[in-house]
Amino acid sequence: MGLRSPFRSLLLSLLPLLLPAARGEAVFATSAAPASEYTGVQAFNPTTLIPPPVPTPAIPTNIPVTLQKSGTQGLSIAQDGAFMGFSVEMSVTNQVMGKNSTLLQVAFLNLMASLVQRAGSVRIRLGGNSQETAKLVDSLQDGRILAKNLTGVFGPTSTPPLDYTRDLMYTLGNISALLNIDWIVGIPWFVTNPFDLSIIPLAQSVLGDHLLGFQAGNEPDMYVQHGHRVPPEYPQYTPYDYGGEMSDFLTQLAASGFDPNGTSKDLLVAPNIAWAAWSPQDVWDSGFVDKFDENLKFLSVEKYPVSNCGAMIHDNEVILDPQTVFPDFLQHDTHITSLISQYVSSTAYAQTKNKPFIMTETNQAACGGIVGVSDVFGAALWSLDYALQLAHSNFSSAFFHTGGEHVFYNPFTAPPTNQSTFRKWTVGPIYYAALAMAETIGRSNQSQVLDLTPSLQNISAFTPVYGIYQDGAPVRVAAFNYVDDPSGASDVTFSLSVSDTGTPAQVKVKYLAAKSVSQKGGYTWANQTLGGVFESDGRLVGDEDIQTVQCVDAVCAVKVPAPGFALVYLTDEVFSEAASAADGSGATVTFPTTAKTQTHNTATVDPLVLATSNGHDGSIDGMGSTSRGKKSNGASRTTTSAGAAAVLAGLVFGAGMMWR
Ligand SMILES: *[C@@H]1O[C@H](CO)[C@@H](O)[C@H](O)[C@H]1NC(C)=O
Ligand SMILES: *[C@@H]1O[C@H](CO)[C@@H](O)[C@H](O)[C@H]1NC(C)=O
Ligand SMILES: *[C@@H]1O[C@H](CO)[C@@H](O)[C@H](O)[C@H]1NC(C)=O
Ligand SMILES: *[C@@H]1O[C@H](CO)[C@@H](O)[C@H](O)[C@H]1NC(C)=O
Ligand SMILES: *[C@@H]1O[C@H](CO)[C@@H](O)[C@H](O)[C@H]1NC(C)=O
Ligand SMILES: *[C@@H]1O[C@H](CO)[C@@H](O)[C@H](O)[C@H]1NC(C)=O
Repeated sequence: MGLRSPFRSLLLSLLPLLLPAARGEAVFATSAAPASEYTGVQAFNPTTLIPPPVPTPAIPTNIPVTLQKSGTQGLSIAQDGAFMGFSVEMSVTNQVMGKNSTLLQVAFLNLMASLVQRAGSVRIRLGGNSQETAKLVDSLQDGRILAKNLTGVFGPTSTPPLDYTRDLMYTLGNISALLNIDWIVGIPWFVTNPFDLSIIPLAQSVLGDHLLGFQAGNEPDMYVQHGHRVPPEYPQYTPYDYGGEMSDFLTQLAASGFDPNGTSKDLLVAPNIAWAAWSPQDVWDSGFVDKFDENLKFLSVEKYPVSNCGAMIHDNEVILDPQTVFPDFLQHDTHITSLISQYVSSTAYAQTKNKPFIMTETNQAACGGIVGVSDVFGAALWSLDYALQLAHSNFSSAFFHTGGEHVFYNPFTAPPTNQSTFRKWTVGPIYYAALAMAETIGRSNQSQVLDLTPSLQNISAFTPVYGIYQDGAPVRVAAFNYVDDPSGASDVTFSLSVSDTGTPAQVKVKYLAAKSVSQKGGYTWANQTLGGVFESDGRLVGDEDIQTVQCVDAVCAVKVPAPGFALVYLTDEVFSEAASAADGSGATVTFPTTAKTQTHNTATVDPLVLATSNGHDGSIDGMGSTSRGKKSNGASRTTTSAGAAAVLAGLVFGAGMMWR
């Protein structure tokens, strides 16, 4: 079936470089290898870059941080642990989540389970360019839930029209029946007369309370540039015209009978602009929010700090040189403060309108990210800093984009399908950032975030630090070190104290760690890892390591290696709450002793687990799924930490059995 499939022929037509296996051993190569020598797909590209030089003059390495016990000004709105979510390009749903509603990807479920344990829930947006022409069909060849229709490839991202079946939505529904995952689903918006409304009753009936919203079009401010709103039919296309389309949509929805309870009409996510032709202010100035006040559940934007479309799809854009731009993604100011500051007036506006303001799609660089930059440890630090900066700036959620095996920035990637019997998943840096972010914000729904960096003296943009507050009191501190300095001379000590004799006697610390900012795979969060390329079944491996730091003379000196990130729990109560929540049982998280040698570079592919957890289904879309008659047995895997994740894997399997 392989070569006949539309998806395969798309790959062949678009990408002359097709997948010989990326070898695991190349993954930890320390020398910079040119990407040109690698001929596989982007997601498994072993290219590493040279870390930026140690800054001169040297950065300040002792940073006193005095937190106010109460009364701190400028805290963000209340945030929840699911802040950092994922955006899944609709066309790769079957690669990422499962072949169909009865063959869910076990690794995906395990990855989500670890986040749900920490955050309470996970938010996923299903959409992107491929939502725009998505068409519900009764069935597709070979029982597929998705198929790209290659007769009409369009636009600069060469997105083919997408056909999908009802079972795509049942796949989402079955995922949410297992795990607390909530969805934003994209409405096709290219054709407005009439709109294709079929996804609305389908999503509403299948997802129910797990449906957060319907995204009204994707980046409408790029429709003119991409040829979707052009003369003579559209002499111009402005925010007013987009607003007119919203009105048309609501009129058609009302007339359709698809929204009998009037629920769906009030779940809209808009305007989803990319700040291309229109600024957010242009949209607010058009009266859009007041006009659709009742219908707008979220205000939303999409933004990538830079575009790598020049390199990825050979449009006429400038081609980024990865080594040159690498340092831009290894500090706090560039692309974080400067990217987000332009949205702060909009997040303030959204507060006046009582609307959550979300970043529906983002990542390091448009068109798939940057090799050696988006797929290395530095991107874990960058995306965690970015997520915290968005939280500080009163966004309410940010969705990091996942585009399948032909991009660099994925939080996680399924193995190529013809290798799914002997390969496992590749977990990227952004997933680790999501783990750390979930714990940094926690489960109270009351966390307020404050970027402390601008208020501190003698601190550099390489070592941002955030306070997390609850009921006005500091509960956690999140501290970064972007510098890559194996000598240890750039390790930074954050000297934390709390005013009014509030400094605790000791603090607990979890580290996000790797040897270098350019390391590919094998990062650790509190010493647990998801391995390197093709090494993960979605469960964290290794003993959790939580450090205790004694505070001396009312100062808690927390060291953050260069590079690294530390999450500091200021009180035992906050730590225990998090631990018991993560465990789901009320007890402190404990992981049974596992092989001591199971450190971050040594997670290996266990053929037994592969054979049992990731069966081959002969499909071509890269979804290795549990297959009939094969047994997933987490308990047999000695190298994997037991505990909640393993239990969940068992649960997943058990449920899978029932569905078959
Ligand atoms: C997988 O398919 C690709 C493309 O057809 C091919 O180049 C590669 O050798 C295959 N790998 C295996 C292990 O069969
Ligand atoms: C999912 O795919 C498997 C394998 O092709 C098939 O046996 C099963 O019936 C499919 N499930 C649905 C709901 O189509
Ligand atoms: C594919 O797209 C073409 C052009 O829009 C359309 O005519 C055709 O019906 C589509 N095929 C399927 C199977 O949806
Ligand atoms: C799971 O999918 C099957 C269809 O394959 C469906 O019968 C079942 O109702 C689904 N369960 C949920 C919770 O959506
Ligand atoms: C976030 O919102 C709060 C509450 O309105 C406000 O005090 C704070 O200044 C805002 N933060 C930013 C960065 O705009
Ligand atoms: C946080 O909010 C979610 C969603 O509204 C809710 O289900 C959960 O119970 C809340 N958690 C707490 C601790 O209030």
